[in-house]
Amino acid sequence: MENSILWLTYIAGSITFILGLKMLSHPESARRGNLVAAGGMTLAILGTIFLYQDSEGNKLHNYLWIFGGILIGTIVGTMAARRVKMTAMPQMVSLFNGMGGACAAIISIIEYQHHHFVSGDWNIVGVILAGLLIGGVSFAGSMIAFGKLNGNVTDKVFPAQSIINMLVLLLTVGVGIYLTFLGEQNMMVLYIMIAMCLVYGVLFVMPIGGADMPVVISLLNSFTGVAAACAGFIYNNQVMLTGGILVGSAGTILTILMCRAMNRSLLNVIIGNFGGGSKAVSADGKERGNIKEISLSDAAVLLSYSKKVMIVPGYGLAVAQAQHTVHELEKLLEEKGVEVKYAIHPVAGRMPGHMNVLLAEADVSYDKLLEMEAANAEFATTDAVIVIGANDVVNPAAKKDSSSPIYGMPILEVEQAQNVIVMKRSMNAGYAGIENELFYEPRTRMLFGDAKTSLQKLTTEVKAN
Ligand code: TAP
Repeated sequence: MENSILWLTYIAGSITFILGLKMLSHPESARRGNLVAAGGMTLAILGTIFLYQDSEGNKLHNYLWIFGGILIGTIVGTMAARRVKMTAMPQMVSLFNGMGGACAAIISIIEYQHHHFVSGDWNIVGVILAGLLIGGVSFAGSMIAFGKLNGNVTDKVFPAQSIINMLVLLLTVGVGIYLTFLGEQNMMVLYIMIAMCLVYGVLFVMPIGGADMPVVISLLNSFTGVAAACAGFIYNNQVMLTGGILVGSAGTILTILMCRAMNRSLLNVIIGNFGGGSKAVSADGKERGNIKEISLSDAAVLLSYSKKVMIVPGYGLAVAQAQHTVHELEKLLEEKGVEVKYAIHPVAGRMPGHMNVLLAEADVSYDKLLEMEAANAEFATTDAVIVIGANDVVNPAAKKDSSSPIYGMPILEVEQAQNVIVMKRSMNAGYAGIENELFYEPRTRMLFGDAKTSLQKLTTEVKAN
């Protein structure tokens, strides 16, 4: 009877994961989706703790350890999630993902120790070791990714790195295959394999440039999902299997989408070094013309008398925490009869969906957000574009300069609009570390200053118009 109820909780959990994931695909339902999936997960965990029985009918008993761990994890996780700044979100995702990988690897280590080896059970041992390999790489790689995004670890590139990485990976897989078919336990070799997985995880992420880190995090995320699915397989646990497969496939799809948004192949991300250096140099080394500035009052007049205004948010908007202020400006302009929309580049900011999350926080209506293709089709009929703390995602070098590190990356073609106002603090480069020709275009005018302060002043000026 109890096993049937447990089984039902697993089915319910699996259904909530699928529903939750579906709801995550729209900002309006995303929060609810998260809660629905978390509710299903809680149900499955409580079901396992209180209803699980092994083949001899024994139930779990070490409640102090289980609830002690859950309590500590809940407190640390809640505090970290509440305190994290919007700009530090990728680091946190990486850290949490690493913990998932570590859990999957630890499960594999424990199950390898407890396994009663009998002939012909290589498939079970193989799954245990696959969980160890994938989870271990995901843990070590995520920790390095966390360090890099946090600025504690710098890119490390050395000669023949890709070949050495490939050799370490092949050796680790080789040791795993050896253990799989050994037919008996060998803890010494297992420890060697654990060390090799961790070394590979570090070597794998170490050379990858900063701007590619979210792609890698997403890839590591899918690794963690696959490692969790291996654990689900070991325990014959449907909810763990479903959850792992969903995370694995969602992570893989996200990785592919991000690579497409940057127009790069995954291999190029892994062995290339885009965004590694960050010197503010011109992509082709040519001298640029002069820039033109715009005063607050001129900007206010231009915006107030425009028919259509497009706002392009970027990383600087997140840094300045100017999402509420920009929403205020948007409402004010609309009251004056101006049509206002936002153009969202898929990799604007520092993580996928960064701008959507930021603007949703300020209650910007979702139907005002245009994806890149839709926005590009509208720039030619736009009177004024306000680029707020965005740089690489509006850099025409991506289309024109084949020597540029961002060449080929699809961009928001804001230069087609009648007027472009660029809000940033200085002439410093963006993430890719290259100069931006847009700032020197005849239709572009610069409004220097912190995005939030400039927007507040601009709002006051627009009100006065
Ligand atoms: P960036 O190219 O990084 O440019 C941001 C600009 O914001 C900077 O030029 C900076 O100029 C300005 N800024 C910073 N703080 C500001 C503040 N307080 N007020 C006003 N301006 C401020 O950003 P982007 O255009 O959003 O492009 C994103 C880049 O990051 C792309 O290269 C992308 O590939 C990469 N990337 C994307 C992701 C994902 S998946 N979304 C993840 C990592 C990296 P000043 O210093 O002069 O103010």
